Amino acid sequence: MCGMAKKILLSGIQPSGRPHIGNYFGAMKQFVDMQDAHDCFFMIADYHALNTIQDAKVLRQNIVDQAIDYLAVGLDPKKSVIFKQSDVSEHTELAWIFDTITTMPYLARAHAYKAAEANLNKEISVGLFNYPMLMVADILLYDTDVVPVGADQKQHVEITRDTAQKFNNLYGETFKLPEVKILPNVAVVPGVDGRKMSKSYDNTIPLFAEDVEIEKAVMSIVTDSSGGIPKNVYAIHTLFRSEAELAVLYKQHEGKYKVLKEALIEDIKAFTRPLREKRKVIEGDKGNVLKMLKEGGQRAKEKASAKMDEVREKVGVKLY
Ligand code: ADP
Ligand code: TRP
Repeated sequence: MCGMAKKILLSGIQPSGRPHIGNYFGAMKQFVDMQDAHDCFFMIADYHALNTIQDAKVLRQNIVDQAIDYLAVGLDPKKSVIFKQSDVSEHTELAWIFDTITTMPYLARAHAYKAAEANLNKEISVGLFNYPMLMVADILLYDTDVVPVGADQKQHVEITRDTAQKFNNLYGETFKLPEVKILPNVAVVPGVDGRKMSKSYDNTIPLFAEDVEIEKAVMSIVTDSSGGIPKNVYAIHTLFRSEAELAVLYKQHEGKYKVLKEALIEDIKAFTRPLREKRKVIEGDKGNVLKMLKEGGQRAKEKASAKMDEVREKVGVKLY
C-alpha cells in the first residue's frame, strides 16, 4: 500500500433506535475492520430518519446515542470522519439534482419502497419514495469507492451506480461508480422470530443490552421442532463461535434447545459486556461526543462542498 492513496469508504446508519447484533455483524463490524485501510466517512443518516421519526426530542436523543454507539464499537475520529448528514447541506442539494434526472417508475421498482407500500397502512410520503436519491447523494459526494452495508442495502448501491452513470452521460465525467461490500456469511442475521432482525419488527437482540435483556431475547427465539438443531439459535450462534466449535456443541446437546440457548446467552454476554461498558464511559462525556460530531461535520463539509461546486458548474447554475 505504501505511497498509494487509500480507497474512500462511506457508509451510514439511520438513528432510528438502539442497534442490534444484526446491525453490528451486518454493518458496523465491517466499518471497524475496514477503518485502517481506507479513508472513511461514517454518517448518521438523520435526514433519512425524519421519514419515520417525527418527534424532535426522540430524534435528538437518537442522534447522540448513535454517535456514542459508533465510538463504542471502535470507530475512531482520529482515523475516520464521523458526522451527521444534516450538518452537510450539500447532501439534500445534490439529492434534488438527482431527482431531476430520475424517473418515477425507476424509483417505484426499489425494494424498500415496494415493501413499505405493502406493509404500511398509510400513504407513502414523498420522502420515503425518494429515499434512495438522498442515499445516492450521500455516497457520490465523497468520490466513494466502497460502501459496506448489509444485504438489504444492495439495491440502493446499484441505484447509486445507475444514477452516477446517468449524470456522467448527461453532463460529463463527474462521479465515481462505487462498489458495494457485503459480508456473505452475515448478510442477513435472523431475529428472534426467524425473520430478518430489524428494529422495525421488534425481534432484536440489542447490541448494548443488559444481561437480563439478552437472556429474555434468546429464550424467546423461535425454534422449529424438526431435527435436533434449532435453526435460528444456530444461525445467531455462528456470529460468536466457529462452525467447528458449534458442530461439537450442537452434537453434544442435540435436541436440547434450552441448553443450547443457555450456551448462546453466555457467548453473547461475553462478547457484548466490554462493548456495553465502553459505551457507558463514552456516554458519561456527552460534551466530547458533540464536539467530535461537530468537527466531523466540518471535515465532511469541506470535501462535499468542493464536489458540489463542480456539480453546479456542470449543470449550468454556477455563474460566479
Ligand atoms: P433495521 O432494519 O434494524 O432498521 P437499518 O436499516 O438501520 O436496520 O440498518 C443499518 C445497517 O445494518 C444496514 O447496513 C443494514 O443492511 C444492516 N442490517 C440491518 N439488519 C440486519 C440484519 N438482520 N442482518 C445483517 N445486516 C443488517
Ligand atoms: N439506507 C441505509 C439504511 O437504512 C442508511 C444510509 C443512508 C446509508 N445513507 C447511506 C448507507 C449511505 C450507506 C451509504 O441502512
